[in-house]
Amino acid sequence: MMADIKFAKQIVFINSLTPVVMIGWDALRHNLGANPLEFVTHTTGTLALVFLLISLLVTPARKVLHQPWLIKLRRMCGLFAFFYGVLHLITYVWFDRFFNFKSAVEDIIKRPFIAVGIASLLLMTPLAITSTNKMVKRLGGKRWNRLHKLVYAAAVGGVIHYFLLVKADTRLPIAFGVALGVLFGYRLVSMMLERLSRPEPAPRS
Ligand code: HEM
Repeated sequence: MMADIKFAKQIVFINSLTPVVMIGWDALRHNLGANPLEFVTHTTGTLALVFLLISLLVTPARKVLHQPWLIKLRRMCGLFAFFYGVLHLITYVWFDRFFNFKSAVEDIIKRPFIAVGIASLLLMTPLAITSTNKMVKRLGGKRWNRLHKLVYAAAVGGVIHYFLLVKADTRLPIAFGVALGVLFGYRLVSMMLERLSRPEPAPRS
């Protein structure tokens, strides 16, 4: 049993923030390699997808490992997915397109995978906005849960975005797709089992 949730949260927070601190540090020292734009785009994109999958892993891990406290870390992982997604978008708009929105639109027409990435980030936006306790209360648990199913669509979008942009070696996006499929499969099976184990309503007399 995990007693010190505050400490666990601090550990996750520091670890999740470390990549962006390292990118910032290396950027200040002009140490981001031969192609800094490519490095930062790829790192932030991969982190957004990894955090999205970690946030989907929390519920199965909590049940399989019998560690209910893990749920307390889910919101932070989801918010870090959004955070890295936003950094990924800022990198694109600032350093790839230099805030030239006409050029961004032309690029999106030429490379449709970018539109899929934008859609994925847009799907994550209402989830980030409604992540506070106040918003959960305001929406009510049922509606909040229904809205937060969008996280699967965002993750599918992220995987498709990745799959479409790689040129030859599709192993990594396929691996992300398989991981997402397993998580989705777990969700479906546990939902079906829950339904089956629910007692039948008594027949009306
Ligand atoms: C917000 C809008 C987005 C834009 C404009 C965008 C744009 C891009 C661009 C230009 C690349 C590099 C393509 C190349 O190398 O040819 C890229 C890579 C990538 N993006 Fe996005 N993206 C967006 C959203 C997302 C989101 C939400 C995710 C994850 C959920 C994501 C995950 C990735 C991944 C995993 C890569 C490849 C990383 C690698 O090659 O190692 N992107 N994106």
